[in-house]
Amino acid sequence: MDLIEVARDALDDAHVPYSEYRVGAALRTADGTVYTGCNIENANYSNSLHAEEVALAEAVKNGHREFDRIAVTSGVRDGVTPCGMCRQSLAEFAADDLVVVCDEGDGETSEYTLGELLPNTISEGTLDDARATGDARDAGGD
Ligand code: THU
Ligand code: ZN
Repeated sequence: MDLIEVARDALDDAHVPYSEYRVGAALRTADGTVYTGCNIENANYSNSLHAEEVALAEAVKNGHREFDRIAVTSGVRDGVTPCGMCRQSLAEFAADDLVVVCDEGDGETSEYTLGELLPNTISEGTLDDARATGDARDAGGD
């Protein structure tokens, strides 16, 4: 089954009593295993989980650290892309060349790379540079 179709199947599990906007995601690991996620909203609104982060958490929890493709869809197939928070979460594990497939409806998809969607991401390397130069220590901080 195509990855976008797997993402569409995940829509069924979405818990969206507040927005009524279902999102499904299917994340493929380097070894071809696929993990899915859906959005899970909460009455306090801010605790809502996004489909992409649910899929990523499931994959990481099962020992996967390398990903090559993610497909994302909404119930209305409006070409939804991962939000900024989800882009950053994906960038923690995936490289700039992660392919992001978005569902445009009518059997059409758009493809982006993570690097296009989130250029100049903060990464572990960013923090390494600060630690190596002792930047905070020089400034009298921690
Ligand atoms: N949503 C996602 O699941 N992924 C995104 O990256 C964009 C937004 C969800 C959160 C909320 O449940 C609904 O879509 C409306 O924002
Ligand atoms: Zn998001």
